[in-house]
Amino acid sequence: MEPYITIALPKGKLFKLSTDLFEKIGWTAEGLNEKSRKLVITNEEQRLKFIITKTADVPTYVEYGAADIGIIGKDVIAESGKDVYELLDLGFGKCHLMMAVLKDKKRASLLDYSNTRVATKFPHIAEQFFDSQGMQMEYIKLNGSIELGPIIGLSDSIVDIVETGTTLRENNLEEIACIMNATARLIANRVSFKLKFDRINSMVTELKKFVS
Ligand code: PRP
Repeated sequence: MEPYITIALPKGKLFKLSTDLFEKIGWTAEGLNEKSRKLVITNEEQRLKFIITKTADVPTYVEYGAADIGIIGKDVIAESGKDVYELLDLGFGKCHLMMAVLKDKKRASLLDYSNTRVATKFPHIAEQFFDSQGMQMEYIKLNGSIELGPIIGLSDSIVDIVETGTTLRENNLEEIACIMNATARLIANRVSFKLKFDRINSMVTELKKFVS
């Protein structure tokens, strides 16, 4: 019998966009929705298994081959440092990673923030960026609501994702440096890509028809 293809999908903003895209090529499964308490959703007929994971864990499942493929933001791939094969830029989930500070605490230049505290969910990308600017920083790792950092005095700045800019505006924060642009990517485990080449490759060909 044909082996399953296991697909890791992240909870949150990319979930619906990802399942909608797979649906277009007929890859779906009964009960596949974000609210499902069932974490592995199988389509026996098509030999597909969908797993629903925390956003930051998708590259881990794929790197270890627990999932053959996955969909996840470029920002999360970069932060994870995981060795996965990027098959396709899906174009959706557009955002950028940036540094922001409270408007009324803005300093004259980026270098003026050297040796201050930055709160972030992306400490590796942040460190690479500040190192490239020759800046030493103190990093405080948070797991969400990063914007709270400067507001309550935990940090001087944040490094975080901006999509619409609403969160920054509503919290009196201002972007002072863009670090990287990101979109959602289709990724694959390197071994799975070779072993299941025919199915994965024809899936990519089909998906390309729906990706702008
Ligand atoms: C992300 C990010 C910002 C927000 C930006 O948070 O960390 O807080 O979205 O989006 P915007 O520019 O459209 O306002 P998310 O909703 O993923 O939750 P989190 O704060 O718990 O990480």
